[in-house]
Amino acid sequence: MSKQLPPATQSPVDSRLYRPAGGEASDVELMPAGDVTEGVVRVGGTVRRPHQPQSFAVADYLDWLENAGFEAAPRFLGRDAEGRDVLTFVPGDCAGPVPEPWVQSEALLASVGRLVRRLHAASAGFVPAVHPFPPRPVRQDTAKGDPAVLVCHLDVTPQNVVVRDGLAAGLVDFDLAGPSTALKDSFNTAMHWVALRDPADAWPGWEELDPFRRLRIFADAYGWTGDERRRLPGFGVDAVRLSYERMEHNARTLGGGWARMWDDGVGGVIERRAAWLEENATRLVRALTD
Ligand SMILES: Nc1ncnc2c1ncn2[C@@H]1O[C@H](COP(=O)(O)OP(=O)(O)O)[C@@H](O)[C@H]1O
Ligand SMILES: [Mg+2]
Repeated sequence: MSKQLPPATQSPVDSRLYRPAGGEASDVELMPAGDVTEGVVRVGGTVRRPHQPQSFAVADYLDWLENAGFEAAPRFLGRDAEGRDVLTFVPGDCAGPVPEPWVQSEALLASVGRLVRRLHAASAGFVPAVHPFPPRPVRQDTAKGDPAVLVCHLDVTPQNVVVRDGLAAGLVDFDLAGPSTALKDSFNTAMHWVALRDPADAWPGWEELDPFRRLRIFADAYGWTGDERRRLPGFGVDAVRLSYERMEHNARTLGGGWARMWDDGVGGVIERRAAWLEENATRLVRALTD
């Protein structure tokens, strides 16, 4: 009798119970605090995060990325006995809330651009069919049926990139993932990593960096087209204004880390960023196209 091969498809993510072979690891370590999620812990080779409304949609996306050969994202392993999401731990270093000087490396910046480009290539074709992403509460920036729509990460901050040997090797924290566009995700990444901010809001130790030079490094590494480079400042201003509305809405309705960030003045940082992009639009396009 021929041996039956196991089915090629995995069990649906919502019925996957995480049962560690050999019992639960005993080494539990609190992960560095991110902005929002409370109680992220490492248990052995896994990370446990509170289960959230978007968790299964994210899990489907992570499954897709794994099947597409994208090795830089965590894998969703199921839910543990406490109902928490279990993901693989991605080894390496992530920046703290105020990015350390090593985060300024231009080689690292370029590698972030290349990694996000690879993410977008691997994401192409993913359509959230089984578990839809919860609708965003504030106005959408992409119309339903828009051919440009791509499910992507949308929060590629220094805290959410895992660095090994000085280069971007992993992406974590897919909480904000969902349908958007490659330009939106890559602009957002550049905004965090260049960083595009009013100089008055520069992180301590980042005051002397040249945002025009750094944006060009990112653009070349990611591979923005000429048209995208020319559109970038205007596109960025719109994206930043939308992020203001979203942050304010989240602070008001979700509280927690969102409210903390709002109380700490993130709204002002966002408004000044939009004004800086507007004032420097010509110079930004020149830096991107010369
Ligand atoms: N799968 C993972 N592998 C390695 N480190 C992780 C992983 N998930 C989270 N971390 C670390 O824990 C920190 C906080 O977790 P994160 O999921 O980003 O929470 P938040 O939503 O609060 O930003 C991250 O900045 C990163 O340092
Ligand atoms: Mg995070």
